[in-house]
Parts: sequence; C-alpha cells; structure tokens
Amino acid sequence: MKEIRKNVYWVGKVDWELRKFHGDEYSTHRGTTYNSYLVKDEKTALIDTVWSPFAGEFVEHLDRHVSIAKIDYVIANHAEIDHSGGLAKLMEKIPDTPIYCTNNGVKSLKGHYHMNWNFMPVKTGDKLSLGKKELVFIEAPLLHWPDSMFSYLTEENVLFSNDAFGQHLATEMLYNDLVDQAELFQEAIKYYANILTPFSGLVEKKIAELRSLGVPVDMICPSHGVIWRDNPMQIVTKYLEWASNYRENQIAIVYDTMWNGTKRMAEAIAKGIESADDKVTVKLFNISHSDKNDVVTEVFKSKALLLGSPTINRGILSAVAGFMEEIRGLKFREKKAAAFGTYGWSGESVDMINKGFEGDGFELLAGGIKALWNPDDESLKKCEEFGQEIAKKTKF
Ligand code: FEO
Repeated sequence: MKEIRKNVYWVGKVDWELRKFHGDEYSTHRGTTYNSYLVKDEKTALIDTVWSPFAGEFVEHLDRHVSIAKIDYVIANHAEIDHSGGLAKLMEKIPDTPIYCTNNGVKSLKGHYHMNWNFMPVKTGDKLSLGKKELVFIEAPLLHWPDSMFSYLTEENVLFSNDAFGQHLATEMLYNDLVDQAELFQEAIKYYANILTPFSGLVEKKIAELRSLGVPVDMICPSHGVIWRDNPMQIVTKYLEWASNYRENQIAIVYDTMWNGTKRMAEAIAKGIESADDKVTVKLFNISHSDKNDVVTEVFKSKALLLGSPTINRGILSAVAGFMEEIRGLKFREKKAAAFGTYGWSGESVDMINKGFEGDGFELLAGGIKALWNPDDESLKKCEEFGQEIAKKTKF
C-alpha cells in the first residue's frame, strides 16, 4: 500500500514473473502490474482489483491495512479478469457493497462470475460523492472493451484510466519519472500497437472529449505499469500521435523460409531498398523465430510491410498465416504492402498474401515478386530492383 496523493493509495500487485498475457497471445518480457487504487474520504472507494491468481493476497493485504468492511464502494472500470479477478474473494466479505460500473460492465461481470452483486450502473457524467471529493465516471467503450470506463477524482485531479495509457512493465518504482524511459516507451508503444490500434479513431475522440471537459489532470493512473505523475499529458500526446495513422521512416520485411530461398529474397529486397534510399530504416524478421507482438510493434512503426512465404501445399507457411491473422484484426491504416516468395511448382503464396492484404488497411505497392526454386543471381537482382521500386514508392 503506497500513498500516491493525499489519501489516495496504490494497492495493486507487481507481477515480475509474467511472460505471457491474454493466454499466450501477448508477450510480457518485462512482467506487468495490476494496479488497484483506494481512495479515502468520508467514504472509502476501491478502484479495480487484481488478476485472480493474486486475489487471496490482495484481499489479505487490503484487510491488514484498511479493514475491508470499511470499503463503501467498489469501482470496476473494466471487467476483464486481470482487473476484476479479485472481486469474488473481496465480495465474499462485503457482499452488499455497491459495485459501480457501466451497463456493459454489469453484463460482463455477471458473465464472468455469475453473481448478482449490488451493481450500480453508471454513465458518462455520473458522480459519486466520497465526502469532499467526488468520483466522476466517463464511459470509454472499446478502449479497449465495450465495458471500459475512466474515473476522475476531483480535488486531487487524478484520472483512473484503466487499460488506456498502460504498459506491461513490472516495477517497484511506481512512477513514470523513476523508470528507464526507453523501456517505458517501448512497452507503451507495444501496448498501443497490439491492443489499441483497432480503436485509434475512438482514442482520438475520447481524448478530445476529455479535453473538452476542461478539468485539470495532475496524475494519470492506468491499470498496468507506471503512474504518470511527471508531465502526465505526455502519454496523452503520444496516444494522439499513435492514433493518427502513425508511421516512421521504416519498412518491415517479415517472412518465413524453408530452405533459405525466401530469406535470400528478403535480404536482396532489403539491399535494393537501402541502395535507393539511405535514410529509410529496414528491419527483417523471420516470423517463425520472432516474438509476434514485437514484430507487430515494428509493423505499427513502419510505413510499409513486405511479407514473404514460399509456397507449400498450394498455400503459405503457417507462421506467416498466423501473422496475417494477427494483423488482420488490428486494422492498420494507411500502410503500404507487398508480397514475395519462392516456389517450385504451383506458386500460390504471393497471390494468397496479396489477397490477405485486401481490406486490412494495406495498400498494395506492386503485384509482388516470385522466384522459382533457389533464387539465382538474376532472380536476386530482380529482388533488388523490386526493393528499389518499393523505396521510391514509399519515400517520405
Ligand atoms: Fe483489458 Fe488489462 O485488461
């Protein structure tokens, strides 16, 4: 339990061990935190809990420092298990305590826990008086679930933003100014790229709505990672930048390969790009050896994605297929793309990748390039020329 503002406490859990999140879907190289907050005034409110494996220690810790019976209100900004996982154990001790959440939060919490707790559904602008301070609720649907909401604490000017502005970063340091900035922003952009990209339009609208309220924000308390106390609006500015069809002067070449033919094509294409534009950053990833969430982050940062697979069984390699499914759901906007790959017989891979790009927010730069069997010097020269063409078509 750590005091972060007058009578406002962090009561969460630092999970240094976590390496996979959302099942095995999201890599967490630096662990994470599940941030829960307690606000004391004439009334006491608990904002969010922790992931269910830590429910026991969470409730015990809370009871040791503040008698749980003294909690008057529970706020569930979001029903996903990493934040609601402590509720069941907590509510055993205070079964009648009201739980404030959105209407969708009620549906989701009932769906997860099958309990008829004392739900108090709230909408944007609804207020809960704690005495001198108030909690003001702001619905934030699809940031990142339909039930998500923010809570704003008056007097202390704290925005409890749940997943928005978070990062999977385990730290005992608690605040943004006390951690390694490169690690912090790497985890923040990875979080945005892998979780919030499909909702970028809503991110822009929600930030505009928050700004239109004209309320001061002295601290942003997300539900994962550090609390933004030093220039808290810096992460809001970053989110606006990332939400606005973010692109750096970078091209990502992502491929899988069987006998290194498609790998050699990737390298030749990279050589061609570099020869035509010495300012562009080119990064190559063999997707079957790479962390997919890190590669998604690099695609998010790129202006173009070149995706390669040899043809196998009239199709593409499974690691490339899995990656295509990953980027399909993320709905990138205004990115360019092209396909490449070797073949021996029928040669469908390039066309299949091109088809996969359709409707996924990628603009095809070319019909793609194929190489028969093991690419010879002439094939590799064509790949270099292909790279030069890509560089010219994507030059900033
Ligand atoms: Fe959407 Fe951190 O859970």
